[in-house]
Amino acid sequence: MQGRLFRAALSVPLHLPAMATIIAPSLLSADFARLAQAVEIVEASPAPWLHLDVMDGVFVPNISFGFPVIKAIRPLSKKIFDVHLMIVDPDRYITAFRDAGADHLTVHYEACTHLHRTVQAIKAAGMKAGVAINPHTPVHLLTDILWDLDQVILMSVNPGFGGQGFIPGTYRKLNALNELRRIHGLSFLIEVDGGINTDNAAELSRHGADALVAGNSVFGTSDPAEAIRRLAK
Ligand code: DX5
Ligand code: ZN
Repeated sequence: MQGRLFRAALSVPLHLPAMATIIAPSLLSADFARLAQAVEIVEASPAPWLHLDVMDGVFVPNISFGFPVIKAIRPLSKKIFDVHLMIVDPDRYITAFRDAGADHLTVHYEACTHLHRTVQAIKAAGMKAGVAINPHTPVHLLTDILWDLDQVILMSVNPGFGGQGFIPGTYRKLNALNELRRIHGLSFLIEVDGGINTDNAAELSRHGADALVAGNSVFGTSDPAEAIRRLAK
């Protein structure tokens, strides 16, 4: 629903005020022994999305959690589950993530040999389809898949860990992706992921980011609820 609203918003004339940027808190930095509590904090917050980072220890040098955990927290939340797969061969698990409760499923450009097929399979399974690119991957490599996408995640850290520093070159990529979206009249959402906090959130929003993932700057603080509210401003 939120995605549809934002796509509609992107087609309005530029002189109208932009809608608020979506904050997508990431559970990666939450206390895994108190996962339900973390989900409830997000549930009570203005954040419309919950970002879920799935890592396989192969595509990235870390292992996080998979569909059993997503399935377990699904009944606790009505938020959009924005699932970010940092795994090789994601095609094997598309319906498993759908069944676990994913609303958006994003795969990595670098992990998919037949990206077009993967994107179509995600959509055929009834989810919004996203593609993420690592900091070293140029935006223009997505040019021929953009028509098929609901969202693009620009990684502003090297994926694998929460709490890393934001890579400033992301602004250049954000500009380039916005330009591609504008030139071709497309309406996919642009999400930025990694190292986001109150120092850079507003600037990223001004540069055209529609959604901002925040892990450490939310769950690494003593008051995650307040941290989400501050980011949402
Ligand atoms: C990194 C993940 C991010 C991570 C962001 O591999 O994709 O979503 O949770 O965490 P922070 O906000 O701490 O950089
Ligand atoms: Zn992520």
